[in-house]
Amino acid sequence: MSDMTKSGILNALKKTDDDKLNKNLLTLNTIKDFKVSGNNLDLTISLPISQSELSDKLKNKIITVLKSEFNTLDKVELNLQGKVTAHQDSKKDALLPGVKNTIAVASGKGGVGKSTVAVNLAVALAKDGASVGLIDADIYGPSIPLMLGIKEKPKVYQDKTTMKMIPLENYGVKVISIGFLVDDNAPVIWRGPMASGAVKQFMTDVEWGELDYLIFDMPPGTGDIQLTLVQTVPLTGAVIVTTPQEVSLIDARKALKMFTRVNVPVLGVVENMSYFIAPDTGKKYDIFGTGGGSSLANELNVPFLGGMPIDSRIRVGGDKGVPIVYDAPNSEYEKVIIDISRNFGKQVEIRNINPESKVEILLDDDDK
Ligand SMILES: Nc1ncnc2c1ncn2[C@@H]1O[C@H](COP(=O)(O)OP(=O)(O)O)[C@@H](O)[C@H]1O
Ligand SMILES: [Mg+2]
Repeated sequence: MSDMTKSGILNALKKTDDDKLNKNLLTLNTIKDFKVSGNNLDLTISLPISQSELSDKLKNKIITVLKSEFNTLDKVELNLQGKVTAHQDSKKDALLPGVKNTIAVASGKGGVGKSTVAVNLAVALAKDGASVGLIDADIYGPSIPLMLGIKEKPKVYQDKTTMKMIPLENYGVKVISIGFLVDDNAPVIWRGPMASGAVKQFMTDVEWGELDYLIFDMPPGTGDIQLTLVQTVPLTGAVIVTTPQEVSLIDARKALKMFTRVNVPVLGVVENMSYFIAPDTGKKYDIFGTGGGSSLANELNVPFLGGMPIDSRIRVGGDKGVPIVYDAPNSEYEKVIIDISRNFGKQVEIRNINPESKVEILLDDDDK
């Protein structure tokens, strides 16, 4: 039996039987944190595999190996994290050196749940162990502070040479919002250069530190301002949010095409308000029709990341500042959102591992 030290634990991990786990890449640094109290072990490890490949099966295998290696162990509380791959891009590295991936959450129309999806995606990724930042770039309707229950203003850090804003943090997500800086009651008339100037400052003048994902909640639509923003932010990719109705799908298609024209990969489509589950009977109803998001994704040859149900708890949670993925553990909602976030993580990884794998989006002739 080895000692329950860092290197003892590392030796045990190396005995885990799983082909996903490249044992040559396990180092002492893999073990982020461990605490022994009596016969219980609290262990956090960061494995050199992607977030989306972490599974309960792998977790159980590791626990089994640990228990057989340390036979006095009774209970193992294991927090598994995966390493997120980084998007290689010189423009991004210059602006955001500590940020591995930059993601736009966009929609053709407002009110489809873009911010709701951005917030829940961010919180779900953080729950899975990723470090996540969120920039509320929706200059027309900054709603992230409310949705994440943040009321303070960001502090400023200053020394002789630099001055940086410190992002606020809740549910493991670092946040900066245009809403922190403008008065709710004083409407701002944004022109394209002002908006992109503000968003640029959110990238360069904020102390983001090391992040796996920096998510941008974009203003809805496909006009000049959106186009300027998309070209200001060096993006790894975009996620398009739509509802199943035709009116929303038409605009989602426009958003998709906007990203394609400026060579930003679309990582996938999320359909919000996909269905409703009756709380009394558990029966599923397709209120706005069915499968619009997935058939759009199919038709344009982009991944479908999943559908989020419509539920009053999602709206109430948004207003209370408690994201549903946090508020309803072990629920259908949590599961659906975690699945979407893992599908998303997988798409980021596919792009990063093989940047040439750009999928050809199928545009109509009159769109080109
Ligand atoms: N799946 C859902 N179920 C119930 N309410 C939702 C859902 N998605 C969004 N909402 C509500 O709809 C409104 C608009 O959503 P929001 O995320 O602000 O949209 P957008 O950012 O696209 O304008 C908000 O009040 C939000 O709480
Ligand atoms: Mg919004």
